[in-house]
Amino acid sequence: MEALFDQSVPWYLIDVPPTDRAMRQLLVEYAGVEDSAVEKHITDTRSKAWRVAPFPCVGSFLFAELVLSNFPVYPDIVANLKSGTWTRYLEVGCGLGQDIRKLIHDGVPMTSVMGTDLLPGLLESGHDLFRDADALPLGKSLFAADFLDVSDNNVLGKAGLDGTVDVIHATMFLHCFDRPAQLVACQRVITLLKNQPGVMIVGKQGGVTKGASAREHPVKGPMGQIGGVVRTNFLHNVDSFKTLWDEVGQATGTRWNVQVCEEEVMDRGYLYFDEEEHRWLSFVIVKL
Ligand SMILES: C[S@@+](CC[C@H](N)C(=O)[O-])C[C@H]1O[C@@H](n2cnc3c(N)ncnc32)[C@H](O)[C@@H]1O
Repeated sequence: MEALFDQSVPWYLIDVPPTDRAMRQLLVEYAGVEDSAVEKHITDTRSKAWRVAPFPCVGSFLFAELVLSNFPVYPDIVANLKSGTWTRYLEVGCGLGQDIRKLIHDGVPMTSVMGTDLLPGLLESGHDLFRDADALPLGKSLFAADFLDVSDNNVLGKAGLDGTVDVIHATMFLHCFDRPAQLVACQRVITLLKNQPGVMIVGKQGGVTKGASAREHPVKGPMGQIGGVVRTNFLHNVDSFKTLWDEVGQATGTRWNVQVCEEEVMDRGYLYFDEEEHRWLSFVIVKL
């Protein structure tokens, strides 16, 4: 099968890096992959996913890294969803949806977890990776949709999701957009969440270190060839991220406690955003 997109970009790694213990366990116990076949399974899935999504999360095998379970708030998220205190988790820009499967494996009811992404082919690659197309069908658990679509016909609204979500996970997502589109996406997040104190947005994304100016970063490589992909990524520092949420609050008449901190980036994280000032920003935002 010939690749549709250029593989000679720095963020396309030939060899899969060592698989984290928790991800390996998920693939073996949830997906039923033989322990000795884990790396081949990940590599085969990546080859297929690259044909639809030449993103760093695919090329650099970041889809095989768990993110949400490393947050200190993770046990509370799991407990709330298991007890029924919370009834709905939605992951936006979920890609292959590794953290969705981790929640299910950790005991969260399948009916409480949902994901959405622009590219149906990536959601299907997630089905290949986790062998669960029947359990998490497209159009019921996983939705192919442009998150920036705010028309009356938007997929998530038509599926009845507006005002029903307790926790939204957005990892490596908001940075896909320029600054104006981020404002639209954050407002869309608020429409999806229940209108009650305590609902939460959690995630991580590319940004810059505190002293560096927040900036627009042109989309590089074959990603720019995909319809629906915004052409610049706005990279925040901690302060500009808080300012974004002040604006979101003002625009929606809501108030948010925004906890955001800077994290060192793993080596692979520099293959796309290659400036020295590049950092990841992780955040937990709770409605007041
Ligand atoms: C960097 S990847 C991160 C994927 C996943 N969250 C992860 O951490 O492995 C960004 C994801 O956002 C999705 N995306 C980009 N623009 C989007 C849009 N307008 N609506 C919905 N999803 C979008 C991409 O398809 C891609 O899967």
